[in-house]
Amino acid sequence: MSKQVLVTAALTYANGPAHLGHLLEAIQTDVYVRARRMAGEDVIWMWAADTHGTPIQIRARKEGIPPETLIGRSHAEHLADYTDFQLSFDIYYTTHSPENKAHCAAIFNALKERGHTAVREVEQFYSEQDQMFLPDRFVKGTCPNCKSEDQYGDNCEVCGATYSPTDLIDPYSAVSGDTPVLRSSPHVFVKLDSYADYVAQWAKPRAEGGGSDLRPEVRNFVKSFLEKGLNDWDISRDKPYFGFEIPGFPEKYFYVWFDAPIGYIAATERWCTDNNRDFDSYWKNEGGDTEIVHVIGKDIQYFHCVFWPAMLHGAGYTPPSRVQVHGWLMVNGEKMSKSRGTFILARTYLDHLKPDYLRYYLAAKLGASQNDLDLDMEDFANRVNADLVNKLANLASRSIKFIVGRLGGTIGAPAEDAAPLLETAKQRLATVPALYAEFESAKALRVAMEIAEDLNLFMTEAAPWKLTKSDPERARAVNAAAVYASKIIAAIVKPVLPGWAEKIERMLKLESPLTFANAGEPIPPETVLGKYETLAERVQKKTLDAIIEAGKQRAAEEAAASGDADEASYDYEVEALSDEVTIDAFGPIDLRVGKVLECNSVKGARKLLQLTVDLGPLGTRNVFSGISKSYPDPAALVGKHVAVFANLKPRKMKFGMSEGMILAAGASDDAVTVIELDPRSRPGERIT
Ligand code: 2FM
Ligand code: ZN
Repeated sequence: MSKQVLVTAALTYANGPAHLGHLLEAIQTDVYVRARRMAGEDVIWMWAADTHGTPIQIRARKEGIPPETLIGRSHAEHLADYTDFQLSFDIYYTTHSPENKAHCAAIFNALKERGHTAVREVEQFYSEQDQMFLPDRFVKGTCPNCKSEDQYGDNCEVCGATYSPTDLIDPYSAVSGDTPVLRSSPHVFVKLDSYADYVAQWAKPRAEGGGSDLRPEVRNFVKSFLEKGLNDWDISRDKPYFGFEIPGFPEKYFYVWFDAPIGYIAATERWCTDNNRDFDSYWKNEGGDTEIVHVIGKDIQYFHCVFWPAMLHGAGYTPPSRVQVHGWLMVNGEKMSKSRGTFILARTYLDHLKPDYLRYYLAAKLGASQNDLDLDMEDFANRVNADLVNKLANLASRSIKFIVGRLGGTIGAPAEDAAPLLETAKQRLATVPALYAEFESAKALRVAMEIAEDLNLFMTEAAPWKLTKSDPERARAVNAAAVYASKIIAAIVKPVLPGWAEKIERMLKLESPLTFANAGEPIPPETVLGKYETLAERVQKKTLDAIIEAGKQRAAEEAAASGDADEASYDYEVEALSDEVTIDAFGPIDLRVGKVLECNSVKGARKLLQLTVDLGPLGTRNVFSGISKSYPDPAALVGKHVAVFANLKPRKMKFGMSEGMILAAGASDDAVTVIELDPRSRPGERIT
């Protein structure tokens, strides 16, 4: 067990309110933090709003307010939303703080003194009208690849091509519409390559003398970047920029991605000052036994797993010991969409439902992998109603109500014939802390469900309601067994549903809060149980419909304020549909679910990737696929479930046999997307 654990979730950007995508990560972090605290560990959660950069500056300008006012407002909204979602962070600070400014300067100066910074001229678009250099996302124009108009300066949303703003045809400022000019100015860089060996060592497992516990897919991600070689990182932006000026470089500001993660450190310093704790034991303890755990989404792995450990090590700060990466939150099977009302803000949800239900649903689906998670509204209602209401709450409710309502309230001893079930429940409970400590909350909650299923069955068979008069003591003992199990269940669900556990603590008159260690202890038989407090209520479909409706309205307001929208506009063409056929046409084609085990580029073949695909009971296949231009990081495909044309005759190629074909969509070589299947699909299953 580590002496101290410091956990962070990514810092929410302060140009708008928190939405359910943020909540996925926040709930994952909270469950982890609460569970480790319940296991007796010293865990702090350091969090803050990410407040610098161009989007904030531009939104503030648009609203006619100073950026400080905008970030103050967002900070207050985030804090209220996150508090109401029962997140147990120890601080919600801001990156616009004196502590952050000081640590940015300290880290930068340390890198500079070691000779690991450089200054070079950079040519960039400048808008005379806006009086500023335009970051990539603030230049728009016609895609050089597919010629779609109004595309961003870094990539085309229509064909997926990536490029530099200077490649755009007819570029214009997304702020004012002005035509920008190219202007050169000195920029400050960190020479990341100086840290390549260190990052490679850091990315190895701690158990093997490395510095971090990363999942294999994250490790592969880091590896693929190191193989390509680390480019110098431009950490400066020209004025006007909302951020911190770089010491020794007047009118140059730290790029927001330099100061944002340092916000974790600044929040810790602030918290340590306020709580009389030792800051250095957290962040100046490289090689010590403090654990630093970051929870992030898969889009920001590069920052946390490459730049960040390098910067920290270079400046003598503690690097992270674990980076936990999650996938995207989808709603009703699709990317969150403002027009469909599935871009749901945290507050919109809270206006309609208690946080418990979302906390439960997400935690019951979350594991340690990067798989995307679908919030399917119908499944949400079904799952909450079936698991929380019908199974877990039902067990506690019928037993407590019975003892209190019909047997005077005294619990007595549990039935002897339930002893093996309760023993099994305790053994299952013992597996739970390790599951939570590995971010496997779905598996942990499954344990609670199994205990409830066993005890609900025991209750049904023992039918105590038939014995109230004939054998009240047997009825009491049967119900007491269910109460004992409900106590164990409450401990298991406590990291996810802290309010549930508190109610059980009150009803069972427990003297100390539930922990994993004390949940299996007996309840004094003379205990008089308290009146039943409702643990969960059914979620109604109409409530979910109302959330979607409100989501549409709120998102429209938000989109108008932030200046972005995601309304569908089909400014690309697709081939016309082929002639109609009957189902028979599918006949001889055998499509199967395949899981990508390995994916690598092929030496000497610019277009090809070589994949090892698992078809479950049908074995593995070696497949060559011409998708290399669209997947510059082949490791990104590892773990994905894809559609395989599995009975395609094997074909001998220059590089080996190709034993099947991966299905993909897209018109040109560099804009292909592999058809990804629901991760619940099983390798080898037929696709029909
Ligand atoms: O991706 C984002 O929304 C960033 N605001 C996350 C920052 S995490 C950390 F580095 F501060
Ligand atoms: Zn394009």
